[in-house]
Amino acid sequence: MKNYNIAVVPGDGIGNEIVPEGYRVLEAVAKKHNFNVTSKTFDWGAGYYIKNDKFLPDDGLETLKEFDAVYFGSVGLPAVDDTLPAKDYTFKVRTSFDQYVNYRPVRTYPGVTRPLRTEKHIDFVIVRENTEGEFVQMGGQYLPDEANGMGLDTSIFTRKGIERVAHYAFKLARKRRHKVTHITKSNTLINSLSYWDRVIKEVALEYPDVQHDQMYIDNSTASFVLKPEIFDVVLTTNLFGDILSDLGGAVMGSLGLGGSGNINPEKEFPSMFEPIHGSAPDIAGQNIANPYGQIWSAAIMLEHLGETEAANNIMEAIDKSTSSGVLTKDLGGNASTSDVADAVIKNL
Ligand code: NAI
Ligand code: MG
Repeated sequence: MKNYNIAVVPGDGIGNEIVPEGYRVLEAVAKKHNFNVTSKTFDWGAGYYIKNDKFLPDDGLETLKEFDAVYFGSVGLPAVDDTLPAKDYTFKVRTSFDQYVNYRPVRTYPGVTRPLRTEKHIDFVIVRENTEGEFVQMGGQYLPDEANGMGLDTSIFTRKGIERVAHYAFKLARKRRHKVTHITKSNTLINSLSYWDRVIKEVALEYPDVQHDQMYIDNSTASFVLKPEIFDVVLTTNLFGDILSDLGGAVMGSLGLGGSGNINPEKEFPSMFEPIHGSAPDIAGQNIANPYGQIWSAAIMLEHLGETEAANNIMEAIDKSTSSGVLTKDLGGNASTSDVADAVIKNL
């Protein structure tokens, strides 16, 4: 029987509640589809940092490399400097493992009230560049305590970085509705994002069967709200994608609904699957966090590992659960975190 060995990193806050529930769904679906999952859980994150002065051990990345995938919650605690979680864990894994695609789908869940008036079905994927752009963290601060203090961050857009994520987006569009909308702001970021546009347009020429549009980030935020049905694959930079995917979560009805994958398409390194949101310390420890996004991330992981039927099975079970009213507090219901996982498992 096929076995997948999964590194489980719940992280902090609600990660410790939703990750075990998501993993329970994973085990149940594996049983049904005749494959096996084994795992090891790592207590890394801001809580680990408080005790050990680091987010993960020095050989942590080497340890993760041995696994088929990483199933992750999120990191960050109010007691810990909030510039550290991304730098010392999330970005570290994403860049070290060349997870250059951040795959963040947005769709309608049946039975979930959405904030938008439109009744139209929404189904698109945000493909966020995940290793460079605005988040390279190159820069510095000069005399920060002085009246003439300054802070600087530099964005980096490389041909290689743009080309590879663009190819991924166009290939993905070929499996969907054949449309890529790339997000930009080249009218004002006249160097970096003009280059982004130029390289994407060159790549687009190789996909004449895929419709290609360009949209400014400001217009795209409005369009996510006013006409989300026009999108199929949304190709964005790292920062824009970070912002747009929370908006995508809101469009679905809650941040807790969004699943994602940090994907290394060449499979040279393990990919990492996590919900789009953070550790939500404001609701942690109450068994009320919405685990649907975490469970969806398990489906995205299975799809990546080649278990498409099992992935589809999870999505069908999620739809059955939401349409029968198994909704957490953020969705106006009173189901607990574990109630949701129970329902999804029952509906597999
Ligand atoms: P957040 O996403 O944790 O929370 C934003 C709001 O959404 C909160 O009101 C929260 O209660 C709600 N929410 C989020 N997920 C939910 C769920 N599953 N069910 C119900 N409600 C949910 O963002 P915030 O508050 O800006 O950040 C909290 C911490 O998380 C910070 O330390 C931040 O750095 C970290 N963070 C970590 C990420 C990662 O590890 N990939 C990503 C984003 C934030
Ligand atoms: Mg974010």
